[in-house]
Amino acid sequence: GGWRALRRCASLPRAVRLRVREALGAREAADAVRVQGWVRSVRSQKEVLFLHINDGSSLEHLQVVANPSLENRVLTFGSAVEVQGKLVKSPHRKQNMELQAETIRVVGPCDIWSFPLKMKERHPLEYVRQFPHLRCRNNTLGSLLRIRSEATAAIHSFFQDNGYVHIHTPIITSNDCEGAGELFQIEASSEVRESAEKTHFFNVPAFLTVSGQLHLEVMAGAFTHVFTFGPTFRAENSQSRRHLAEFYMVEAELSFTESLQDIMQVMEDLFKTVTSTVLSRCPHDVELFHKYVAPAQKTKDRLEQILKNKFVTISYSEAVEILKQASQTFTFKPEWGCDLQTEHEKYLVKHCGEIPVFVINYPYDLKPFYMRDNEDGPQHTVAAVDLLVPGIGELCGGSLREERLPFLESRLQRLGLTDAYQWYLDLRKFGSVPHGGFGMGFERYLQYILGVDNIKDVIPFPRFSHSCLL
Ligand code: 4AD
Repeated sequence: GGWRALRRCASLPRAVRLRVREALGAREAADAVRVQGWVRSVRSQKEVLFLHINDGSSLEHLQVVANPSLENRVLTFGSAVEVQGKLVKSPHRKQNMELQAETIRVVGPCDIWSFPLKMKERHPLEYVRQFPHLRCRNNTLGSLLRIRSEATAAIHSFFQDNGYVHIHTPIITSNDCEGAGELFQIEASSEVRESAEKTHFFNVPAFLTVSGQLHLEVMAGAFTHVFTFGPTFRAENSQSRRHLAEFYMVEAELSFTESLQDIMQVMEDLFKTVTSTVLSRCPHDVELFHKYVAPAQKTKDRLEQILKNKFVTISYSEAVEILKQASQTFTFKPEWGCDLQTEHEKYLVKHCGEIPVFVINYPYDLKPFYMRDNEDGPQHTVAAVDLLVPGIGELCGGSLREERLPFLESRLQRLGLTDAYQWYLDLRKFGSVPHGGFGMGFERYLQYILGVDNIKDVIPFPRFSHSCLL
């Protein structure tokens, strides 16, 4: 979709440049075609030389058939080439078109002896992770990054089609939205500060954002429905397979909503719409994961079921009861008032049939200051929701926000944060409305729909504790 179809090759100018995907999808033969890319395999036979080349536009490589006289010392696996010749119907059933080379120019040779990728080898994800500057030339990462690109576009379309305004929330901020203390503090170099005679470049301590939510709340007070989708930073010390220090978060904020169900409906619609779009727009790339990377997980069948059915909802209190009655023993004993641990989340999704589960109404004392008080008791809760998914745990977190000035004021006072959040309190003084929103971890989303075990394999350049390669 969106790619120029090759309609009448005969009428195209000489040596038209085609991407691999266009060449593979061409309906007719063409006399003079030029394709550029990287050699994925070279096979030399007595009478004929076969090359497979790929330029990142498709998972499938374009087969190039050439006279062995065109072979040369630098035409190796990994080299960058430009091939000119005739695009013809391929005699092989599996491939639509192939390129009969008239000239092959090696644009950039590749030293195969020191190149860490090897021809026709299915390198494990852990192996290619060591080479973040080269792993995108591997099939698996190639597919992943194309899927990531389609999913990004689908997320933007979902919100734009539903009347949300996209907001670029700041990366540098002076607030800690989540209050979890996982902040990266940033500062100008000492030379800059000395020359300006400043302790802090911004006069106040500044941090990389942990969430765009508070800035989105500002904008929801003018545009009603807003979203942001950008990099988010958390100084997580764990080496877990679902945490990064830099990840992408999709966040939405909706004004004039009094019901947590409305927020949950948007989460569910977002998940289902984006997933259906990705499945239909990059079927081959997705198939590579479902069939070859994580076949045991049967992700494809599970996704099909999930897209057809409604997500389940349970309350936090119900969740604790389910855990208490579980036959299995947990490292962390489930108790009302304690955070749900990964082992608990896993059990809950299993208990509910390995489908996404919304857990709502968490204890007041467990959650950040901005969540709306449910005014219940003695088990005091806030209108919070987490979406748990099999294999991952928490995929989304959201809540209704405390829009009532006295409630918010007294909570901030108890935390000693009133001065820092005057502007946030202002929003409750000047046309406050019931509102709420959520954030979805983009990498966890990709992990889930593709069945990828480690979060480091679904982001182009992973950053995590003790590692900032490149
Ligand atoms: O639950 P969280 O902390 O929610 C918020 O930050 C809210 N302010 C969002 C909002 O309501 N606008 O984070 C949201 C999601 C998590 O559910 C998880 O998927 C992801 O962000 N996430 C991470 N992903 C990768 N690495 C990490 N270190 C992550 N921390 C959170």
